[in-house]
Amino acid sequence: MSEYTTGSTRENGAPNESDRNSLSVGSNGPLLLHDTHLVDTLAHFNRESVPERRPHAKGSGAFGEFTVTGDVSRYTKAALFQPGTTTKMLARFSTVAGELGSPDTWRDVRGFSLKFYTTEGNFDLVGNNTPVFFVRDPMKFPHFIHSQKRLPDSGLRDHTMQWDFWVNNPESAHQVTYLMGDRGLPRTWRHMNGYGSHTYMWINAQGEKFWVKYHFISDQGVEFLSDEEAAKIAGENADFHRADLFNSIAGGDFPSWTLKVQVMPYEDARTYRVNPFDLTKVWSHKDYPLIEVGTMTLNENPVNHHAQIEQASFAPSNFVPGTGFSPDKMLLGRVFAYADAARYRIGPNFDQLPVNQPLPEVAAKANRYTIGGPMEYHHTGDAPVYAPNSFGRGHADEVGPVESSWESDGEMVRSAYELHPEDDDFGQAGALVRDVLDDAARERLAKNIAGHIAPVTDESLLARIFDYWKNIDPDLGSRVQELREK
Ligand code: HEM
Repeated sequence: MSEYTTGSTRENGAPNESDRNSLSVGSNGPLLLHDTHLVDTLAHFNRESVPERRPHAKGSGAFGEFTVTGDVSRYTKAALFQPGTTTKMLARFSTVAGELGSPDTWRDVRGFSLKFYTTEGNFDLVGNNTPVFFVRDPMKFPHFIHSQKRLPDSGLRDHTMQWDFWVNNPESAHQVTYLMGDRGLPRTWRHMNGYGSHTYMWINAQGEKFWVKYHFISDQGVEFLSDEEAAKIAGENADFHRADLFNSIAGGDFPSWTLKVQVMPYEDARTYRVNPFDLTKVWSHKDYPLIEVGTMTLNENPVNHHAQIEQASFAPSNFVPGTGFSPDKMLLGRVFAYADAARYRIGPNFDQLPVNQPLPEVAAKANRYTIGGPMEYHHTGDAPVYAPNSFGRGHADEVGPVESSWESDGEMVRSAYELHPEDDDFGQAGALVRDVLDDAARERLAKNIAGHIAPVTDESLLARIFDYWKNIDPDLGSRVQELREK
């Protein structure tokens, strides 16, 4: 702090006269436009925020490191997953629907965003605290978020709109079952698991391809809040989860998660009993058991929330050699959406900010032909700005199949996925209710649902909500109806 004790400076670095009094003609006189410090101060204040993230606006995060303890080198050649490797990383946790300033303890899915600063470039995993999602086609995503946000006239959130979206999109059943259950209200961000959710690709040193799902299991255990506790906390401290993470790390209590993966042989995807690229489905752990990869520990708080968290950009498009995408349509939609959001929210050179840059040694070797734009900082001096060129600046020129590729052919269509033998919207949600939850958790689920639909008064919508739950599990549906009609 001591370097800041002797006066202040203007934006140009020169000494400043006053942070207390503006320049006026006499003590009571009018103000002067050439008080550059007042003008800078007021103008900069108007520009202190960047647009909030459209979904996942409220959140926070911390830096840490990821250390590989297992050996998955036969599945991926990615440097960050090689035995013994430690990689610096950043995590951001968030709610989905609430705006900046909204309570951390509103029932919602939680975002679980990770950025790994690897020696091969940045690798981002932008997941949630649930292994599945509400829809399976990116066309539906803005509709989904609209239904969870606010009514156009009153600006109020609206449970009728939320449930109307869900019953009209029955593929939401699995995720809504998670959301209405304990996972919809984690006790803290430290007490929740994180999932990559999508199926991704891994490629090993021999060029063999595998399908992979990421699971970050909380070493603190999984704990939740009741609706009543969450409502009380929301009234007392809207930043409950943000404070918990910051204070834990500040106090030397570093939260950690164990990364485990499910790996599916490439060819299995064709015949697996559910479509392995459908984001509303999980893979049975019996079919594809969890394999331990490593530990992620968060041990460093941000020193500037705005610069390091608000302006951080996490994007599924940030992949590295040995990792790749899959035919999951949601993932392919997201590959476009996030860098685009960052261009809008932060600016086209968002990736030149320290928090978004690769490691210095990787950035030093960067050779990109994108140039210009607001706030451009990195440049290549007098090197040619076009490729190919005759003056020694290199460019990439690969042809043929790309490393992370899969086969596809056929006519262009607008169509749902082809069905695998056990594909249906309600089966896995029902299994979650019957096989994973115990009696107490099932009763909490029924009560949470009944509470959530209390504001819904439209009779035909209510009937469809009861059917939705009866399709998931007849007993649960009847219990929800009984509680709602009491
Ligand atoms: C944030 C789009 C599906 C997890 C965002 C943002 C956009 C977006 C535009 C704001 C990004 C920013 O302003 O920096 C989409 C689209 C989706 C989709 C178009 C479907 C096609 C998903 C899924 C997950 C997810 C399936 C989880 C498995 C997140 C998280 C954030 C986020 C965690 C917060 C990122 C951060 O911490 O900065 N999404 N999303 N989204 N989304 Fe999605």
